[in-house]
Amino acid sequence: MIDNDPSAGTGGFGEILVSSRSLHEYRAMFALTDDDLERRILDCPGGAAGFAAEVSRRGGDVTACDVAYFDGGIDRVAATAVAEADRGNRYVREHADAYRWTFFADPDEHHRARRESAEHFATHTRTSPHRYIPGRLPTLPFADNTFDLALSSHLLFSYADDLDYTFHHRSTIELARVATTEIRLFPLTPIGSSERYPQLDQLLADLSESGISSRIAEVDYEFQAGANEMLVCQVPR
Ligand SMILES: C[S@@+](CC[C@H](N)C(=O)[O-])C[C@H]1O[C@@H](n2cnc3c(N)ncnc32)[C@H](O)[C@@H]1O
Repeated sequence: MIDNDPSAGTGGFGEILVSSRSLHEYRAMFALTDDDLERRILDCPGGAAGFAAEVSRRGGDVTACDVAYFDGGIDRVAATAVAEADRGNRYVREHADAYRWTFFADPDEHHRARRESAEHFATHTRTSPHRYIPGRLPTLPFADNTFDLALSSHLLFSYADDLDYTFHHRSTIELARVATTEIRLFPLTPIGSSERYPQLDQLLADLSESGISSRIAEVDYEFQAGANEMLVCQVPR
């Protein structure tokens, strides 16, 4: 877990789970194809996800970026990743009715999968630390068009009570700046809700003003009840 600094322009929030979703979850959340996995991918926030590790093992090219990696934080994140998976699983058990038990059959399977993913992450940070770059949305430490595809899961929209509209707008524009063709954001439903982020229409309109076209796509993944949509933004070049 990390304490985010409200003065950094993120809208002012407390603890955010450093979670550890797997390649299997990323594929489902973002409807990723084998071709997608051959592109240069940014995963921001990367958290303690096993995604970069598992795609690297296939020969792919993923860079994970997260505010928690600052100040040598990558070792701390690696050391606490499994404990964070335990913390996330406790939350899920306490709120089991808020989840659909199809992707994971039950809380035990969720726990096993997230712990395994956290372990992949921790091992990979030791063998390939250059894949884990500290960064804080809405300002990323990458040149324009560094990546083909930027993925962002469980930060924007999820923490809508704590992250203001300006953060959402600026972060989306920033992800589009560093990705040549496309960004995908998941989910569109704040934690504790089963409705879309209330200012989504406003965001789509503002992105359109900047020349970024967006569409909402249903995906074949629903863990948090009601959260089965991603936002796909095409970046004009
Ligand atoms: C719930 S985790 C999601 C991690 C990963 N995408 C996954 O799905 O497993 C949220 C992450 O957002 C990171 N975070 C919070 N504020 C951030 C910011 N302003 N810029 C980049 N990362 C941030 C946290 O450190 C945490 O790792």
